[in-house]
Amino acid sequence: MFSMFKKKDREVSINDTQQLIATPGETILQAGTRQGIRMPHNCRVGGCGECKCKLVSGKVKELTESAYILSADELDQGYILTCQSVPKTDISIEIERLENNGPNYEVKKLIGKVTRHQQLTHDTVEIQVSLPEPLSYESGQYAQLSIPGVIEQSRAYSFAAAASDAHNNQTVSFFIRAVPGGEMSNHMQQASVIGSTIEVEGPYGDFYLRDSDDPMLCIAGGSGLAPLKSLLEEAIKNNVSRPVTFLFGARTQEDLYCIEEISQIAKDWVNEFHFIPVLSNEPIDSGWNGLRGFVTEAIENHLSINSSGNEKVYMCGPPPMIDAVEDTLQTFSIRSTQIYYDKFLDKRHTNKTNTAA
Ligand code: FES
Repeated sequence: MFSMFKKKDREVSINDTQQLIATPGETILQAGTRQGIRMPHNCRVGGCGECKCKLVSGKVKELTESAYILSADELDQGYILTCQSVPKTDISIEIERLENNGPNYEVKKLIGKVTRHQQLTHDTVEIQVSLPEPLSYESGQYAQLSIPGVIEQSRAYSFAAAASDAHNNQTVSFFIRAVPGGEMSNHMQQASVIGSTIEVEGPYGDFYLRDSDDPMLCIAGGSGLAPLKSLLEEAIKNNVSRPVTFLFGARTQEDLYCIEEISQIAKDWVNEFHFIPVLSNEPIDSGWNGLRGFVTEAIENHLSINSSGNEKVYMCGPPPMIDAVEDTLQTFSIRSTQIYYDKFLDKRHTNKTNTAA
């Protein structure tokens, strides 16, 4: 008798052209990502509306109230958020912007070993993980990390090295910044993690370099350096020759890291490459001669002198920074189609998010 209540897999039909299976408790977005379907999304926590789709038939359980992010009109039309909707029956949905291009590597779940642990700043480490087989990814993408038997709830971190390095060496690396209350991020600060097993699931994410000859404006905030470093290192290997301006926003000099690596990228880049660190909380008397203030102010100054209007913007960092930068970019007529971003939900460090705008 209890078997009648057993939870079942549910079929999800997308645009009447693709089918996927959602396992019990899985959101539509999780199921789609797992099965390699490139569904639009961003925050994954019901806060941005990027993943909205129209529920054509069937029923879903909503994990959070979507009313505050969807308009009354959209709710009337049956719109839902794929990141917050668990199918209760077989369902059919319509997604307007289903991407068919971009990286489509097989998502793997691999048990690796931490082989290196390096302190980058007072609160950020780099860990290197050796994998039992190569894990293909596009530079800019991310993986979900968990520690079997210790920290089962996975956390998302961007691959920090150029993708072609991982293909050859079966090693992947990640920058992990300690965040208050972050179980994984604090655990990984300890050098004793060397030798321990770690589960790497991926690749995921829509943050990657698009083909173009237009100038690039790269913006990293806080722990958002990894995907940009990876993307730029890979671009060098692929002989990309676009002018680049790279702004790195941090609080103080103590929070800057990988400066040597970025200098090397600048040296190897075959076109102009301007690297501009910007510090928001550097003590006045520290002797810092670089830019001070928020990265948004620096962008404003930069664009008011240098903007061609056709820049492609790649940015990674916490949502307030990304949102503020987007507003600034709009005042310089840089459209959302020119902007690709990777938002880090640093506060809880649960779901780091990736997408192109
Ligand atoms: S609301 Fe679903 S990804 Fe942001």
